Amino acid sequence: MNSKNTLKKSPKLVVIGAGIAGVGAAGKLLTHGFTDIQIVEASSQPGGRIKSSLFGKSTVDEGAQYIHGASVKNPIFQLAKEHGLLQETQDRSDPELSVLTNMQKQMDPDVTKEVKNLSSSILRRAHLIAQQKQYTQANSLADVYLEEVKMLVAQWDGDHTDLRRQKLGLLSMLMKWQCVHHAAGSLSEVSVHEYEEYNTIEDHDRNSQGMLYCSRLFPNLLEKLLEVIPREKLLLKKPVQQILWNGSFESEDRSLYPVKVLCEDGGHILADHVILSISLGCLKANGQSLFQPRLPEQKLNAIQSMGFGTMNKIYLEFEAPFWDENTDVIGLVWEEETPLSRQEPNLAEWWKSAPVFYVFKPTERYGHLLVGTISGKEAEFIESLSLQEVASSLTCLFRQFTGRSSLPELKNVFVTKWFSNPYTRGSYSHISINSTGDMIDLLTEPLPHATEGSGSPMLQLLFAGEATHRSYHSTTHGALLSGWREAERLIDLYSTK
Ligand SMILES: Cc1cc2nc3c(=O)[nH]c(=O)nc-3n(C[C@H](O)[C@H](O)[C@H](O)COP(=O)(O)OP(=O)(O)OC[C@H]3O[C@@H](n4cnc5c(N)ncnc54)[C@H](O)[C@@H]3O)c2cc1C
Ligand SMILES: *[C@@H]1O[C@H](CO)[C@@H](O)[C@H](O)[C@H]1NC(C)=O
Ligand SMILES: *[C@@H]1O[C@H](CO)[C@@H](O)[C@H](O)[C@H]1NC(C)=O
Ligand SMILES: *[C@@H]1O[C@H](CO)[C@@H](O)[C@H](O)[C@H]1NC(C)=O
Repeated sequence: MNSKNTLKKSPKLVVIGAGIAGVGAAGKLLTHGFTDIQIVEASSQPGGRIKSSLFGKSTVDEGAQYIHGASVKNPIFQLAKEHGLLQETQDRSDPELSVLTNMQKQMDPDVTKEVKNLSSSILRRAHLIAQQKQYTQANSLADVYLEEVKMLVAQWDGDHTDLRRQKLGLLSMLMKWQCVHHAAGSLSEVSVHEYEEYNTIEDHDRNSQGMLYCSRLFPNLLEKLLEVIPREKLLLKKPVQQILWNGSFESEDRSLYPVKVLCEDGGHILADHVILSISLGCLKANGQSLFQPRLPEQKLNAIQSMGFGTMNKIYLEFEAPFWDENTDVIGLVWEEETPLSRQEPNLAEWWKSAPVFYVFKPTERYGHLLVGTISGKEAEFIESLSLQEVASSLTCLFRQFTGRSSLPELKNVFVTKWFSNPYTRGSYSHISINSTGDMIDLLTEPLPHATEGSGSPMLQLLFAGEATHRSYHSTTHGALLSGWREAERLIDLYSTK
């Protein structure tokens, strides 16, 4: 090992971003005896995409809300369990879906179940086919889905025209629901590789995919993770402007460091290693200018090609419910829509991109609360509307679907703004048609990597965050595991000298 690679006893570490990935990484390093750590966070509070706000009579989640995969194999579930945070959980894996159409019809629950079942079997089949790698890179989820839909629709010839139209409208709604799930504007933006790479943690004991909801779960969990981090190690309201790396920067005590982190407030921090956990959206926006020297072309290309989209939530509080007590989710079907017709962004009628509204329960805690989800260009667009505009459009929408000219009054509206948030610039990642799972690994590759042996200090820049987890991207558990992974990389480096 040459002199530049001689490892210091106590390296200086900087973690950029105090989301769950950054907080998880710092926590693990601290508990492994690394003491010289600073977490540098742009916002006035830690958490990033874990964020709760007061709304009506309760606290609601702007970002992460569900544990996807309620199993001990999921570190989020495991931690929540250890810390006793799983009181009053609700399993939302198989919600009671009540479907209304724009022709004021309530769809027959049996037909709804049948079509929903069809839609999941299409997805399951697509999953299988993707795993068998029968698709090429150019194939999108829309390609797979539509191929199957065409076969199905051919079997509906015997159905009454009205029923056929409703079923097609419902399939179209279910496709939009999938889009929301991927934070995409259309399934044609998402690669079939998404199915090959993304893993669902299944709970075989309970035979479900366990989608658990529990009020304030994520903020509480983040609090627990922050407990091991001394307050002075977390610098808030300190946006990082540029990262100078591969250099030799002298500190006041004349020690040399390869990395210099420049902050917007004019300050700087020197480091041996920097774990970067800012969102892929921020990397897309600033990746070219954030690093000096520039990142390798391949990595920049991965950043540009990978998918990162917007999903927003619209919280609505009503004076009284206009839905049935048993309903968990209200689905809105536009009867003239079919999954076979190409859907272009439609900002003028943005509400057509909000396929479902979830009902919060119990009413005693939340009041009469609904949350709608919306993705794509329409989700970005509604961030620019006033709450009045959103409220009046949605009041018209619900009047149209219920056929009731007077609906219970809408007391309160709240729209999340993940796209215009400069420290997120969208919601979460997916594998776009322009990318592959390998690109996730490319993004994750630390710089310089141990194998390069260029003589410059190893692992100056390490990449964490939701988008760097190949099989669990887009989730909190993926983000946490990515932070732990990068912490382990440094722990390994310093334990194998
Ligand atoms: C609407 C929505 C719903 C979701 N629902 C779920 C769900 O139900 N279940 C689930 O598991 N996951 C869900 N997710 C995903 C989950 O929230 C994220 O995957 C996870 O929180 C990401 O954590 P992270 O640490 O990778 O990134 P982030 O939480 O984005 O953390 C990055 C941090 O870096 C900071 N930062 C950015 N730029 C700079 C800079 N220049 N200088 C300093 N700091 C900077 C940011 O302020 C932020 O705090 C949802 C996300 C959204 C947006
Ligand atoms: C759901 O679809 C599968 C085939 O994919 C079928 O075997 C099953 O009986 C269906 N269930 C319902 C409730 O329609
Ligand atoms: C894929 O790349 C092409 C060419 O750069 C671009 O026009 C298109 O918008 C990209 N699509 C997605 C879904 O990222
Ligand atoms: C980093 O510095 C080394 C020499 O110290 C040089 O060989 C290498 O090309 C540099 N890497 C970059 C990305 O500038």
